[in-house]
Amino acid sequence: MTAPSFAARKGGKKLTMLTAYDHPTAKILDECGIDAILVGDSCANTVMGRPNTLTMSIDEMVHHSKMVNSAVTNALVVADMPFMTYHVSVEEAVRNAGRLIQEGDAQAVKIEGSPEIFGPTITAIRNAGIPVMGHLGLTPQSIHALGGHKRQARTPEAQAQLERDAKGLEELGCFGVVLECVPADVAARITRSIACPTIGIGAGHDTDGQILVMHDILGWGFTSFTKTFVDIKSGMAEAFSAYINEVQSENFPGKEHQFS
Ligand code: KIV
Repeated sequence: MTAPSFAARKGGKKLTMLTAYDHPTAKILDECGIDAILVGDSCANTVMGRPNTLTMSIDEMVHHSKMVNSAVTNALVVADMPFMTYHVSVEEAVRNAGRLIQEGDAQAVKIEGSPEIFGPTITAIRNAGIPVMGHLGLTPQSIHALGGHKRQARTPEAQAQLERDAKGLEELGCFGVVLECVPADVAARITRSIACPTIGIGAGHDTDGQILVMHDILGWGFTSFTKTFVDIKSGMAEAFSAYINEVQSENFPGKEHQFS
């Protein structure tokens, strides 16, 4: 999958995307046939135990992106541009996007926010030959301004702004737009009105594809729009408890687990 082939799937078979932050997980995802993997800055909360995504650094993102990319042969790998790596200047943004491609081996980057603010940044990154995915609605890097992880686009004015922003990202040449935590009917309307794929997360059924944080589908989920597909978390707890019990009860290791 490349950014152009991802964009060409608009209106076709639904696009599938999940996050991954390490080599073994990315390998499984790729082998299962996922279309795209996001090395999300959600790594900060899901893997690093931080309260939000704001402290993720470009060095950390490069590190995780490299691990993911070393496992992937088919899926498109998109790396998140962390908070403050594209806000200060266009030049800094291009340099940081370049690091995710050159050092992190990603094939595209994702940027949160409106084209009214980040239009010149997105154009400059694209001019460097780097495909850009947009991200609108609940943009976790702005949680302090948004007042928390809340549903977005609740008023007609905010919905009209969201539609203008999605159109703006399409016009800037984004190969896809993530719509997070927005009303399903608004996401459906945007999906019908823009030429690039919309990827929903908590945005209903009628987007061109879906993305979720990988941990959320494996039993760590806490938001209403996620679904536990297999409860790996409970499975892990079961395995860890069994191991502890068997070591303490001296049932492990058995004869078959030792060298003679
Ligand atoms: O960082 C992330 O995981 C994301 C998804 C929630 C879209 O941006």
